[in-house]
Amino acid sequence: MQIPSFVREYTLPPLEWQRAMRTWSKTMRQDQPVCYDEQVSGWRLFRYEDILQVQNDYKTFSSEPVGGESLSIIGMDPPRHSKLRALVTPAFSARTIAQLAPRVQQIAQEMLANALPAGKMEMVADFASPFPIFVITDLLGLPAEKRPYVKAWTDALATGSLPFEEVGITMAQAIEEHRQKPREDILSLLLNAEVDGQHLTEYELLGFILTLLIAGNLTTTQLLGNAILCFDEHPEAWDQLRQDRSLLASAVEEILRCLPPNRGTGGDRTIIGGRIATTDVEVGGKLIRRGEEIYVTTISANFDEQQFSDPERFDIRRTPNRHISFGHGIHFCLGAPLARLQTKIALDLMLDMIPDWRLSHDVPLKQIENPIVFGAQKLPLTFSSSRSMRKD
Ligand code: HEM
Repeated sequence: MQIPSFVREYTLPPLEWQRAMRTWSKTMRQDQPVCYDEQVSGWRLFRYEDILQVQNDYKTFSSEPVGGESLSIIGMDPPRHSKLRALVTPAFSARTIAQLAPRVQQIAQEMLANALPAGKMEMVADFASPFPIFVITDLLGLPAEKRPYVKAWTDALATGSLPFEEVGITMAQAIEEHRQKPREDILSLLLNAEVDGQHLTEYELLGFILTLLIAGNLTTTQLLGNAILCFDEHPEAWDQLRQDRSLLASAVEEILRCLPPNRGTGGDRTIIGGRIATTDVEVGGKLIRRGEEIYVTTISANFDEQQFSDPERFDIRRTPNRHISFGHGIHFCLGAPLARLQTKIALDLMLDMIPDWRLSHDVPLKQIENPIVFGAQKLPLTFSSSRSMRKD
C-alpha cells in the first residue's frame, strides 16, 4: 500500500503531525493492521498485540542487519546480545542510575540558573539538547572540556557523518586513564564488568559508547521538548503537577506514551526497533516470509484502544501505562532509567525555578527533520526572572 506522504515528511507542525498520525493509524488498526509498505519494502505493524508478538520473539524476528555484524547492541541477536547486555546492565540498572541523581540535578540546576536572569530561553538549544550531553559526558568520565566533542559526535551520528577516528582517539585515552585509575563512573563500571570471566573488548566498548550517543542523546532531548509540547497543550496537567509532585513519574510515562521521542516511521530497522523474519510466520493473520522486514508504529501501539482505556486522553495519573516507547522484550531500552531520571529532575526543577513558563507561538513550531527522532526544532519559552534558585 501507499503510505500517506505526511507520515515521512516534516512539513506539519509537531502536534498536527502527531494528531494526523493518530487518526491515520486508528484507521489502519481497524482496516489493515499488518500492511506491506512498498516504499520501505517491509511490513508495517499497527496493533499493540502484533508488535508485542514480534518484540517478544527474538528467534523468529531478528534484529541483526543483513550481511554484516552490527557494532551496536541494538542490532545484535542472542547469544552475542545476551553476553553484551549482561556486561553492560549493571552500569545502567535503576539502582546505579538513581545514585547519579545529585550530579544530574546539579547539572540541570546550573543550566536553568544561567537562563533565569534573561527571563527567556530556547528550550531545545539552551537546555534540552546540551543537558543529556553534559550528563553522558560526565557518566563516561570525560572532563567537561570534552562536551563539545561529545556534542559533535552526537550530531555527526545523527547525520551519518561519523568522525569515528576522533571518537576512537578520545575514548582510547579516557579508557587508558580509567584503567590506571578507576573512578566512580560508568566507564569504570564498564571496564570492570565481567560475566563468566569475560570482559568487554575495546571494540565492544567503543561500539557500546557510540550506541549510547546514538540511542540516548537526541531521544532524551526530544522527550524533554515533547514534555513542553504536552504541557503547553494541557496547562491543567502542569498545574496538577505543581500541586502534587508525586505525579512526576506517571506524568513522564504519559508524555512518553503520547509524544514518543522516537518517530518510528522510517525504514531504518537497526535503529528504531525494526526486525527481520528468520522464517515464514503469521502476524495478525498475514503471512510474512523469511527475510522480510518488519517495522513497528510506536504511536499506533500507544493509542491502541484494546490496550489503553480512553487512549486519546492525556492523563498524567494513568496507571498502568504499558506504552512501548522504550521498546519491549530483550532489547527494552537500557537507558530508560537514565532518560526517566533526567526528565523527572528537569521537570521538577522547572516547577521550582520557572513554574510560570509560557511557550511562544509567534513563529509556528517546526518538526525536527530527522527520520529517527520526533519533536520540535525550537521551543521559545518566557518566564518570570524573579525566582530564587532552589536550595537543597
Ligand atoms: C526518551 C529517551 C529514549 C527513548 C524513547 C529510547 C528508545 C529506545 C527503544 C525503542 C529501544 C529498543 C530498540 C529495539 O527494540 O530495537 C531502545 C534501546 C536502547 N536504548 Fe534507548 N531510548 C531512550 C533513551 C536512551 C538513553 C538515555 C540511553 C543510554 C544512555 C539509551 C540506550 C539504549 C540502548 C543501549 C538500547 C539497546 C538495548 C538492547 O538492544 O538490548 N536509550 N531505546
